[in-house]
Amino acid sequence: MKILITAGPTREFLDPVRFLSNRSTGKMGFAVATAAAEAGHSVTLVAGPVQLDTPNGVCRLDVVSALEMLDTVQRELPAYDALVMTAAVADWRPKRTAAEKLKKRDMSAVLELEPNPDILKTLLPQKGDRIFVGFAAETGDPLAEASRKLAAKGLDLMVANDVSRPDAGFEVDTNLVTLLMPDNSPVPLPLLNKLEVGRIIVDWLERKKGRTDKA
Ligand code: PMT
Repeated sequence: MKILITAGPTREFLDPVRFLSNRSTGKMGFAVATAAAEAGHSVTLVAGPVQLDTPNGVCRLDVVSALEMLDTVQRELPAYDALVMTAAVADWRPKRTAAEKLKKRDMSAVLELEPNPDILKTLLPQKGDRIFVGFAAETGDPLAEASRKLAAKGLDLMVANDVSRPDAGFEVDTNLVTLLMPDNSPVPLPLLNKLEVGRIIVDWLERKKGRTDKA
């Protein structure tokens, strides 16, 4: 298969030295890319700003902002069988980005923001028989919110991670996820290394593609 994977955070700049971002390190997305390449797939990784080495055999395209990630994924998507969005895309960006560093005296205590486009929703009309996988980092009731996003974004699989735990989600090497699909019961997985989670997702993609090809 040809698999397009996004990873890491995006940065939304206020001026050349200040930005809005989040805690994503890219570990989860790089683990999915490693697992997919190990399984013999052709993999492109669209990476936000992260401090990780490119996995062997993976083509890497670096981006910074959500708009750049959207442009890159939109340009690449037609050549791929599956899109796996592990990236923690910033939902908002500053309304204005100053070309020069803002002086403290010129800054307001209130930051004006505007919404970034939702990459998965924007690409839904181009989905065709491609497989779309999303991730949801949630606290509180992870499955309820992740199920809502599975439907709202028209996904084949939503990987819900409970980021209220210190050993799951952002920054750490392990993750605790539940696989949510439109027509199946949720599949909770035990606490696993992110590479093992990546291998399970790749295995799921292979079986899904097999079923789609037969249908
Ligand atoms: O990078 P690590 O440190 O290893 O951490 C991994 C992770 C916690 C970032 C990862 O496992 C994860 O959960 N990623 C998704 C983060 C998230 O909360 O996404 P979301 O709920 O904002 O969005 C849901 C889905 O829509 C995601 O697949 C996201 O990539 C996508 N999205 C979100 C916003 C947006 N503007 N466009 C999108 O396509």
